[in-house]
Amino acid sequence: MTQGPSWRRTHTCGELRPTHVGATVTLNGWVQARRNLGGIYFLDLRDRYGLTQVVIPEALGATVKLGPEFVLSVRGKVSAREGSQINTERPTGGVEVIAEAIEVLSSSPPPPIDLSGSTETSLETRLKYRYIDLRRPAMQRNLAHRSRFINAMRRAFEAQGFLEIETPILTKATPEGARDFLVPSRVHPGEFYALPQSPQIFKQILMVAGLDRYFQVARCFRDEDLRADRQLEFTQLDMEMSFVEEEDVFATWEKVMRDTFKDAMGIELSIPFPRMRWEESMERFGVDKPDLRFGLELHAADAWAKACEFQVFRSAVESGGRVMGITVPAAHNLSRKDVTELEGVAKGIGAKGLAWWKAGAAGGSGPLAKFCATPEAAASLMAAMGAAEGDTCLFIADRKSLTRKVLGELRNQLGRRLDLIPKPSGPTDPAQWRFTWVTHFPLFEWDEDAGRYFSAHHPFTAPEDWSLDGAMEGKQPDLGKLSSRAYDLVLNGWELGSGSVRIHRADVQQKIFSMLGIGPEEQQRKFGFFVEALSQGAPPHAGFALGLDRTSALTLGLDNIREVIAFPKTASAVDLMCDAPSQVDPEQLAEVHVRSVLPTPSAPANPAS
Ligand code: AMO
Ligand code: AMP
Repeated sequence: MTQGPSWRRTHTCGELRPTHVGATVTLNGWVQARRNLGGIYFLDLRDRYGLTQVVIPEALGATVKLGPEFVLSVRGKVSAREGSQINTERPTGGVEVIAEAIEVLSSSPPPPIDLSGSTETSLETRLKYRYIDLRRPAMQRNLAHRSRFINAMRRAFEAQGFLEIETPILTKATPEGARDFLVPSRVHPGEFYALPQSPQIFKQILMVAGLDRYFQVARCFRDEDLRADRQLEFTQLDMEMSFVEEEDVFATWEKVMRDTFKDAMGIELSIPFPRMRWEESMERFGVDKPDLRFGLELHAADAWAKACEFQVFRSAVESGGRVMGITVPAAHNLSRKDVTELEGVAKGIGAKGLAWWKAGAAGGSGPLAKFCATPEAAASLMAAMGAAEGDTCLFIADRKSLTRKVLGELRNQLGRRLDLIPKPSGPTDPAQWRFTWVTHFPLFEWDEDAGRYFSAHHPFTAPEDWSLDGAMEGKQPDLGKLSSRAYDLVLNGWELGSGSVRIHRADVQQKIFSMLGIGPEEQQRKFGFFVEALSQGAPPHAGFALGLDRTSALTLGLDNIREVIAFPKTASAVDLMCDAPSQVDPEQLAEVHVRSVLPTPSAPANPAS
């Protein structure tokens, strides 16, 4: 065996146990905490694997100057800790290393982040000094989990015969509903590549090419507003299959998720996952990503409302809208204050109010009591709302989509507020993971602001009816009523991924483009190559893409994907560590034939801003 340099570690900082007592070892790591007890130094040496207590005798301590986050090599003897000295919180807590020699491999100024975790650091500082933030055990755990999860998923796809194939990053725009990032071409003046919003078009072309089963850990780029569950660049586990339909894709993913959860987390998921039509999800939960861990489903009160004396309710139904509500059981003691706060939430989303009724056969109480004065009216409202004496019913009367949206949000807030989500019995309790497939999404969605229809998923999604309700024969169907073969995988109220059966017929694809207002010339320019590929022997195919950032975060119980991304951007789309985006030299712009319309700054931008 070749000998490494004298500072080279023999063990990691997470490795030593009482069985090592008496051994001479060398550890490498960062100085975490230091304590000076009567001339003897105690310090915790930290690496990715853990912390080990090092004792530095007075004589040795006098010869070295140490500070927090210095990088050391410590040679010494493993010694047992006895009685109250044993740190039961740490795997290495039964031992310490009595230092005999210390080499400082690297020094550091006092770190801007408290690595012991006893004080909170601002997000700005964490992102600016991300390399120090990433030294924190929580961040190391997050990245290790992500790595395990992705690798387990790769193995699961390979086990089912999928090929991992890379698709280009410098490409042509693929519409997924966001803005493109553009890259100017140096060799073709005035022309641009686009970074892929997803590998959608390429993976479909791989199916035309006969590759049959494709997957990729794919980086996607979307110039959209950032949120807790959205970054400008993110990673998908993207896949596509030929000669299949919905159920084949679901079964493939159910196996992949079962294998991955078992492999990466030791959790035995039960499959298949339930399936629910989009319309049912919207009607029962108000959202297309239902959290199935608690009840409080929506109830329709339209029939009651239509016959009642409350003008607001009657006119909502008469004008084609809905009256729906949520019944909160009496045991939850929903207070007047809670209702007032929820009304504020409802109004914030656009509702005109939040009517409430404390159910009672004798009329109950609250603003709706006067409309429930007869025993029949009270009984029929209680029946519609599934309410018992003393329960509180909350109602929204509005356009169908707004009624569902507001109640969907109120349901989620009530779930948290009333603590309705059952606590898992342990980390591997499978009951905490409530997956569901949501299927049959609408094909198109109306956009109020733009005044036109957009694809609800993307324009490559197959319609439920290949004739497009007669449009293929020249009829003019109601675009808002067309149903699609798109589906989402939902977990605990989060959309983990989306997919669809695809259009494999060039004529239907062209029709969809024209229904979206994309004329023949624009179709040819943007998608001509793709329609041509579809016309040259395209197999029926379907696919799906899982958001790996979201899945990693959710499986760690985190609600911001930034915590599972090594170098994320801030909410204002900035990389604080390397100060991107930033200005470039005029020469570099000239090389790619781009001229800025902004005045050239006289001084360099402040890198910290
Ligand atoms: P979609 O656009 O729904 O579908 O994306 C699939 C999944 O990717 C994740 N995701 C994101 N994660 C972080 N930041 C973002 N900005 C972001 N945008 C999306 C989500 C989402 O469910 N080509 C289709 C898939 C297909 O049809 O096969 C697509 O990209 O978890
Ligand atoms: P009003 O008759 O306007 O005083 O309203 C009586 C109750 O109905 C109040 O609690 C309002 O918040 C509620 N309310 C008003 N408009 C609506 C609506 N569109 N949907 C649900 N509740 C409403």
